[in-house]
Amino acid sequence: MLTPLQKAAYQEQGWLVLPGFKSPGDTAAVCGRARAIVEAFDPAAGASRFSTRDRSLVADARLLASAEAVHCFFEEEALDAEGRLVVPKAQSINKIGHALHDLDPVFSAFSKGPALAELAADLGLVQPQVWQSQVIFKQPQIGGEVGWHQDASFFETDPITVTTFWFALEDATLDNGCLWAEPGGHRGERGELRERYVHEQAGGTGRLRMEPLSRRPWPSTATALPLPVEAGTLIVFHGLLPHYSAPNRSPRSRLAYTLHATCGTAAYSPRNWLQRSAALPVRGFV
Ligand code: FE2
Repeated sequence: MLTPLQKAAYQEQGWLVLPGFKSPGDTAAVCGRARAIVEAFDPAAGASRFSTRDRSLVADARLLASAEAVHCFFEEEALDAEGRLVVPKAQSINKIGHALHDLDPVFSAFSKGPALAELAADLGLVQPQVWQSQVIFKQPQIGGEVGWHQDASFFETDPITVTTFWFALEDATLDNGCLWAEPGGHRGERGELRERYVHEQAGGTGRLRMEPLSRRPWPSTATALPLPVEAGTLIVFHGLLPHYSAPNRSPRSRLAYTLHATCGTAAYSPRNWLQRSAALPVRGFV
């Protein structure tokens, strides 16, 4: 249960840091499961290279299919020009997504339960719908930058309700690429949605593209704050909050797990890339 002070801080700055939200046992279980999924993954079967700098790399049927599956995505620097792995497989994966929370028993247990349901209610999420789960590896040395963005660009609802649940599975530090966020950057003019990632249905599986909405500049690390946290910490943040993480050039990985939830009472855009079929309907935290 959040205190009135915590609720006020969330409204004011756009995020809340909750140390110790998950126990060491909980984080160890999902870290182990993530590494087992990578171990079982056959790179030759084809995965998509993931880069936030060139989203056309992932604008393919595999990303769209991952809405209802568990797929591994390569780190951009893990492959050479011919698509061959240049690092060991265990260090080649950028992320796993995007239906772990509904399809994998270990991740499902981590992603649901009364503590999360209560937190979501305290943050004002009505009939929460958890659309996406991702394990983000931020691999040692090659873990890529995630440029400034707002998560609402990927989960448009009317009104905007998307809320991010960012779990540190390992310590996140300045050296290995912790989150950075702009205090109050979700509010007023500064919180204007700058771009929107849309799925244009134009025959076949269609096409994914980032649509600019505003010329408002992104914050920088000069005006933002770093959010170094210990493993087990949950950072929840508003969908309009601009955030960023630096590349990881350190020898230590920075595993994180994220969930994105919207209000079931807000209209979810049919242009969002992530859609669920009747076979796997979107569910909440319970
Ligand atoms: Fe994000």
